[in-house]
Amino acid sequence: MKKTLRILRRASKDSEPYWQEFEYETADGSATVATALMTLPVTWEHSCLQKKCGACAMVINKVPRLACDTCLADLKGDSVTVEPLRKFPVIEDLLVDRKDMMDRLEELRVWFANGADVSRGREMAFEASKCLQCGLCLEVCPNFHAEGKFGGMAAMAPLARLISKMPDAQVKELRRSYKKAVYDGCGKSLACRDICPAGINIEDLLVRSNAAAIWKRRLRDEEE
Ligand code: SF4
Ligand code: FES
Repeated sequence: MKKTLRILRRASKDSEPYWQEFEYETADGSATVATALMTLPVTWEHSCLQKKCGACAMVINKVPRLACDTCLADLKGDSVTVEPLRKFPVIEDLLVDRKDMMDRLEELRVWFANGADVSRGREMAFEASKCLQCGLCLEVCPNFHAEGKFGGMAAMAPLARLISKMPDAQVKELRRSYKKAVYDGCGKSLACRDICPAGINIEDLLVRSNAAAIWKRRLRDEEE
């Protein structure tokens, strides 16, 4: 298999972007965009190469995707365009700075404190825990801007997990954070629905977490 990778490069965050083409040839029918990038003198971020860490999020043939989960053979045509995520500042080539997203999650304190109740909200917590914090959903979200207050689905998933597990006494503050960081900013466009590489059922999770956080209804898990 032979592909031409057209990569949008940039030497540093202040320099002008430019397109550069690389020829890539392999006999491996399962080669991914990540496999090809490993052979090229291009800066990008990766870790697990197994669709588990979200580090290799980028825009491939105009679609936000994980490079390690995008098979070259599945991409139509001889040429593949590869660009960095557009909602975050570019550091170099395909490497972007997702610090704003991480800072927001830190502000929201999206980790379990003592007292998580493992017996409740199991289904919702499991779905939410699939989130890789890759930021691909933010790429297509019309309401997300790196410096804004809205955290998008990348904030919704960990908050939903917490809300489903924390005892009622501790959920009050979480509900407030959820309202501010997710509910108030979400226009319900559901642009993120088909993008998530973790296959999170975003629509269902949104419905459940809105119900739990905003309308304070009992979680579906508890009703069953
Ligand atoms: S919700 Fe899906 S697309 Fe968004 S950050 Fe989590 S894993 Fe990535
Ligand atoms: S390198 Fe971890 S998800 Fe692609």
